[in-house]
Amino acid sequence: MDNDIQLELKNITTVYGNNKMLLDVSLQIPKGECVCLLGSNGAGKSTLIKSVLGLVKIVDGSILYKGDDITGQKTYTTVRQGISIVPEGKRIFPKMSVLENLKMGAYKDNDKKAIEARFEPVFKIFPRLQERTNQVAGTLSGGEQSMLAIGRGLMADPELIIFDEPSLGLAPVFVKETFEIIKRINDSGITVFLVEQNAHMTLKISDRGYFLQKGQIIASGTTDELKDVDIIKKAYFG
Ligand SMILES: Nc1ncnc2c1ncn2[C@@H]1O[C@H](COP(=O)(O)OP(=O)(O)OP(=O)(O)O)[C@@H](O)[C@H]1O
Ligand SMILES: [Mg+2]
Repeated sequence: MDNDIQLELKNITTVYGNNKMLLDVSLQIPKGECVCLLGSNGAGKSTLIKSVLGLVKIVDGSILYKGDDITGQKTYTTVRQGISIVPEGKRIFPKMSVLENLKMGAYKDNDKKAIEARFEPVFKIFPRLQERTNQVAGTLSGGEQSMLAIGRGLMADPELIIFDEPSLGLAPVFVKETFEIIKRINDSGITVFLVEQNAHMTLKISDRGYFLQKGQIIASGTTDELKDVDIIKKAYFG
């Protein structure tokens, strides 16, 4: 096993009932890189993330994290081992304050001091959240809620962070800011797995990527290689 590969999916097949959703999916995420997964609505992107987190039924293949088999493992165990997720659709707790939302992300630490220490790097990236620690999260703007979701993902002190369509539903100015933030997170040494439909921005900040269609990986390579793949050019770059 190559030690530089942080997360690896090996020939994964998943099912919903009797229907296969992912079919023989393999991918590798090298440590420290930003790797993207592109694909249209219903391609199976969120299903792929759920398979890493043990939330869908895997009928074939295996998932390795730092060389260890984590196939079908409980989500909280995987999070404790260093994988954090920023889920689709800004899933924050709307009635809780910004501060309480952030604390929820730090659940792998029981120690109060350790949790306190997690705030500093998060507020450094999101000064706007620091200004609004006591605000009820549901009253934040859409862009701010999206920052809060990312901030909460960072509170887990991850080695690998997975983003499920972070730009979805954001105004263009926030889309740009969100991708800049993801780039900064990756530059700080955290491995990033970026699941997106916005190919243009995603390929700008990624090192390599995969293209998923109807549950199968149909193209992969460095971002420059991907930009030259006909089906991606057609789908995204007209
Ligand atoms: N629990 C489930 N039971 C049955 N089918 C499901 C279930 N969850 C998802 N699916 C189906 O599996 C397919 C892939 O869904 P998935 O959420 O992985 O797509 P996606 O690539 O994330 O799409 P989007 O970009 O719209 O979020 C879809 O057709 C979806 O309806
Ligand atoms: Mg999805």
